[in-house]
Amino acid sequence: MSTQRTILVTSALPYANGSIHLGHMVEHIQTDVWVRFQKMRGHKCYYVCADDTHGTPVMLAAQKAGLTPEALIDRVHDEHLADFTGFHIGYDNYYSTHSPENRAFIEQIYHALKANGKIIARTIEQLYDPEKQMFLPDRFVKGECPECGAKDQYGDNCEACGTTYNPTDLKNPYSAISGATPVLKESEHFFFRLGECEAFLREWTSGSETLADGCLKSRLQPEALNKMKEWIDGGLQDWDISRDAPYFGFEIPDAPGKYFYVWLDAPIGYMASFKNLCERIGEDFDAFFRAESTAEMYHFIGKDILYFHALFWPATLHYAGLRTPTAVFAHGFLTVDGQKMSKSRGTFITARSYLDEGLNPEWMRYYIAAKLNDRIEDIDLNLQDFIARVNSDLIGKYINIAARAAGFIHKRFAGSLKDVADSDLIAHLQAAADGIAADYEGREYGKALRSIMSLADAVNEYVDANKPWELAKQDGQEAKLHQVCSELINAFKILSVYLAPVLPTTAAGVARFLNLPALTWANAKRSLGEHRINAYSHLMQRIEPAQVDKLIERNKQNIQAAPATLVESQAAGKPDYEPLSPECSFDDFTKVDLRVAQVLNCEKVEGSSKLLKFQVDLGFEQRTIFSGIAASYPEPEKLIGRKVIVVANFAPRKMAKFGMSEGMITSASGDGKLFLLDADNGAMPGMRVG
Ligand code: MSP
Ligand code: ZN
Repeated sequence: MSTQRTILVTSALPYANGSIHLGHMVEHIQTDVWVRFQKMRGHKCYYVCADDTHGTPVMLAAQKAGLTPEALIDRVHDEHLADFTGFHIGYDNYYSTHSPENRAFIEQIYHALKANGKIIARTIEQLYDPEKQMFLPDRFVKGECPECGAKDQYGDNCEACGTTYNPTDLKNPYSAISGATPVLKESEHFFFRLGECEAFLREWTSGSETLADGCLKSRLQPEALNKMKEWIDGGLQDWDISRDAPYFGFEIPDAPGKYFYVWLDAPIGYMASFKNLCERIGEDFDAFFRAESTAEMYHFIGKDILYFHALFWPATLHYAGLRTPTAVFAHGFLTVDGQKMSKSRGTFITARSYLDEGLNPEWMRYYIAAKLNDRIEDIDLNLQDFIARVNSDLIGKYINIAARAAGFIHKRFAGSLKDVADSDLIAHLQAAADGIAADYEGREYGKALRSIMSLADAVNEYVDANKPWELAKQDGQEAKLHQVCSELINAFKILSVYLAPVLPTTAAGVARFLNLPALTWANAKRSLGEHRINAYSHLMQRIEPAQVDKLIERNKQNIQAAPATLVESQAAGKPDYEPLSPECSFDDFTKVDLRVAQVLNCEKVEGSSKLLKFQVDLGFEQRTIFSGIAASYPEPEKLIGRKVIVVANFAPRKMAKFGMSEGMITSASGDGKLFLLDADNGAMPGMRVG
């Protein structure tokens, strides 16, 4: 490596009030592949991330869960880190924005911005929830769209017609938290004077930086730059960076009851996480963040948060006297089978469910990487294609090379390779190293993987042309067999180097198998020579389609009342609704065979103070059902003739010594009492309910 680069890389900080899903994984896999590639090239590269812990949604989610925000974010931090680690995301530090480092930095930056005349106080009017006694963020006000009249739309835009507006424009607005009608109330807010940053931002967004190795890197992708131009041309508004109590965040110095808006402290969280790492490993933090720093800094983000990273964040850093990002890399959104991820279809796939179902994280790393390029395009996880591509590329083309050659090396050559430095096949594979490296560097992973797979094709053609299994049977072909199998193992090593950023665990397994230290990029060009390898044990299994089916099923069932969802369900004006069970699909509901039944007889059960014994007519048959409602119905004979609702498909159950119960009679319960349900006139025994 001629010039060693010094690089700091981040992924966007996931919110602490939701689970990690495959959409997040797109970003963290994209970043991790890039970081692993840089490390393999011998560069000094740090990768930091953290949970984004502040803001109203986290505060409300904690209240709902009966926890302090601190307890909630601690728990979520551990879950998030375990999920990411499960996918082999190799952060140097995964921290929290609710940290002393972050508080110190936001105060430092705020004071610097203030000293630079970039902060201004202004009194504004905002919607206020008089019941909950708090100002309402846009997403917490709902009402009718001023444009098309659609009901239950959020305060910032209408999902029915796409119009954007202010929450005060909504008709018949209500608080999504309490259901109360919001009122307008004045409050003093602090603004970052972004309007004054136009010249700087025009220059910054269209700029580029020359790296230590002489390469020129544009700050933004062309599509991102166009978007920023549009936004700047449309006029930059000053940015409201304060929020009123109650708020979970950092209080603004000298402004009691005022808090920094979560989006001001979130990117500063990149610094805080890195600072925390620097303290631990003795790295020089200031060398990375002072204005003249020559270290590179890259942010991998989704397209939805470009505004924050390409306008607010560089302006914040610049006017606080700090370095700005070298570049921001935005990616598109993940869809599943061509559609937005959906909880009811089971395609809102959590990272945890994937790992718990025992699917190999490297399958997903490979598939996602194969779909990624340097543009801001959405990428689709097509489940059939996922299975086919992983099985055909990784198992069929790549892993099988080792599986086919290793046995002969062991059985016939005592585990020793022949020196194959002059092989044409190996030279062909090695010649691709720089092109593949350039594709990784340029985030053209799909292209890199296509090149690697076409090299694997060439290796497999070589296998088919030389047929080691036939050589093994022929006399006098010992040397050729040794040559071919040694070439195959060398080829496998080179492919493993190229795939290592995407398949780090497999690469580590390959290094053990080949009796080598961890693979570096330079390894691709080194021949193994006469070298002893270890016994081969299988490095990766095929995906079975049933595993993917189970994953989707699990995500259908798994729809839990996650904190974010809980907040939304309050929107219906039912603040105290706590679901008794996770969300139930219509399919789940139809599993219960509910029927109208008529009571033919009802009597007390001798020896039981709780039970009544019913004889009911279900239309198609008569059944005996025991029901524990004696305390609520002291005169059971009065129930004869009345219609009740029965669960007809429970397995018969033995009721102690009294006999079998062949179903369940439904009732409402509360205050220790039970109330039978009945059906209107005209309902006949046996009719279905649902
Ligand atoms: N907390 C903010 C980021 C603060 S960064 C200083 C946030 N959090 S998030 O959890 O909503 O999203 C985290 C990242 O995941 C974002 O870059 C976002 O674009 C990305 N993704 C979330 N859903 C996604 C998909 N379905 N597909 C791809 N990326 C997605 O935004
Ligand atoms: Zn509308």
